[in-house]
Amino acid sequence: MKVIGINGSARKDGNTAILIHKVFEELNNAGIETELIQLADHEIQPCRACFACKGQGNCALKNDGFAAIFRKLAEADGLILGSPVYSADVSAKMKAFLERGGVVVATNPGLLRHKVGASVAAVRRGGGLTAVDTMNHFMLNKEMVVVGSTYWNMVYGKNIGEVLNDEEGMANMRNLGENMAVILKKIKK
Ligand SMILES: Cc1cc2nc3c(=O)[nH]c(=O)nc-3n(C[C@H](O)[C@H](O)[C@H](O)COP(=O)(O)O)c2cc1C
Repeated sequence: MKVIGINGSARKDGNTAILIHKVFEELNNAGIETELIQLADHEIQPCRACFACKGQGNCALKNDGFAAIFRKLAEADGLILGSPVYSADVSAKMKAFLERGGVVVATNPGLLRHKVGASVAAVRRGGGLTAVDTMNHFMLNKEMVVVGSTYWNMVYGKNIGEVLNDEEGMANMRNLGENMAVILKKIKK
């Protein structure tokens, strides 16, 4: 089994990456393979609303990073969407990714059906819940099974590494990983 993590931060290996790695730790402990994709490494343009993806199984736009990342996602068993909070919501790169993925799955139904997903957000102060909701809405609209934890999945921190000081938030990430492993194993049995 494999879970892909998408880090929507413009800052590579920052707080959002730390959160995703914490969830990964628990998945790895349960024998589940993981791979982190950092959107900071890729250009992701917004959707052009051309709808040329209809029946093609992927985005028709092939001159940026989206199509290769989406292919991996379509092959995986689970997905973690992670974003820093920018302007009280997800980052523009994550939003562009959700736009593109949203239209590809709408015009090719079932591509993400029954995959297990979770969303996490790194936040300095405000907008964490909105960001988590934005990412969860994508997955719930694509027939995915969204996993929860003991709190909403936001962890507080500004500079890189500061999220580690949010003990409750990090414990919630660990629990989220455990829950995701349990659900994955039940669904894929
Ligand atoms: C463009 C930009 C906008 C931001 N907007 C917010 C915001 O609205 N609310 C907030 O609490 N933090 C905001 N932040 C702070 C980040 O969410 C915070 O530093 C987060 O930990 C960054 O995660 P990263 O290291 O994965 O990039 C913003 C940061 C940037 C660069």
